[in-house]
Amino acid sequence: MTEPVLVAENLTQEYVLKGGLFGQDRVVRALTGASFTLEAGKTLAVVGESGCGKSTLARCITMIEEPVSGSFSLDGTLAAPGTHDALRTTVQIVFQDPYGSLNPRQRCGQILEEPLLINRPDLSPDERTRRAREMLDLVGLRPEHYDRYPHMFSGGQRQRIAVGRALMLEPKVLVLDEPVSALDLSIQSQILNLLVDLQERLGLAYLFISHDLSVVKHVADDVIVMYLGRPVEVGSKEEIFAHQRHPYTKALLSATPMADPTLRKERIKLTGELPSPVDIPPGCPFSPRCWKAQDKCRQERPELDATAHAAACHFPE
Ligand SMILES: Nc1ncnc2c1ncn2[C@@H]1O[C@H](COP(=O)(O)OP(=O)(O)OP(=O)(O)O)[C@@H](O)[C@H]1O
Ligand SMILES: [Mg+2]
Repeated sequence: MTEPVLVAENLTQEYVLKGGLFGQDRVVRALTGASFTLEAGKTLAVVGESGCGKSTLARCITMIEEPVSGSFSLDGTLAAPGTHDALRTTVQIVFQDPYGSLNPRQRCGQILEEPLLINRPDLSPDERTRRAREMLDLVGLRPEHYDRYPHMFSGGQRQRIAVGRALMLEPKVLVLDEPVSALDLSIQSQILNLLVDLQERLGLAYLFISHDLSVVKHVADDVIVMYLGRPVEVGSKEEIFAHQRHPYTKALLSATPMADPTLRKERIKLTGELPSPVDIPPGCPFSPRCWKAQDKCRQERPELDATAHAAACHFPE
């Protein structure tokens, strides 16, 4: 077995909202007890509804934020404030919005060279330029694109620049936070194919965040399903798509249009609103919306069972 490049244990993040009603602070439990491992060359997808903590996880792993508890290591080194600088080149992030994430005043070449300018003072300007030009080619852009500004590119091309910039420091882990959600359907598959191709060539590990299960089906090796900040089902893509153990995963999958007719399911309509992470229901957090819920579910929170295809449910399939 290869050594995992990313190991997360019980990652937990909270935000304090100051002075709510009656001046009381409220705690947003954005992420609770996320544990997983990721190996080189593999893709771990993180799925779940809006607000379930996907980007919070991304911000912790990329050291944009410090988690309130839990830990993770990158390429064998435990991430702690003292090691962050050294680890920052090991993990890089690509965001959803290729318009907002590129500086409109920088030319494509400068955008690609900037990470080197900041982190690799040992490299000469010529060497930086050489590497940026090489990257243009790697992400499927043309030499003449080096001098162009972001507004002169299409959305898909901009996302290629963002991926190229993330790869300039030769990271081992790429966190992709909804990398194709802002793109047209036809462009989505081009970018997904580019990511698959880069992964094969460079042995990259991807933490791939998406609310779109049809995209996940295309790229993932393993899947974590999150609900209200917690992993509720974890398994290989094949297992998760073939038979869901947690009722929430079943509902989520039934709501995704699938091209493959064997995967089409009768739609399960969830009743009730998604609760707020400020006020997470007692017992199983999914129990107020679950058609299988019993008294036990409303009282005791189920932990992920210790199986390869794990579910946090008292009555899993
Ligand atoms: N800085 C913050 N302060 C307070 N609450 C926050 C902060 N950042 C995120 N949250 C809250 O934490 C929860 C998780 O947010 P997060 O951005 O991780 O969700 P997400 O799964 O990425 O959602 P989406 O699919 O919409 O991107 C949400 O309820 C969000 O409002
Ligand atoms: Mg998000």
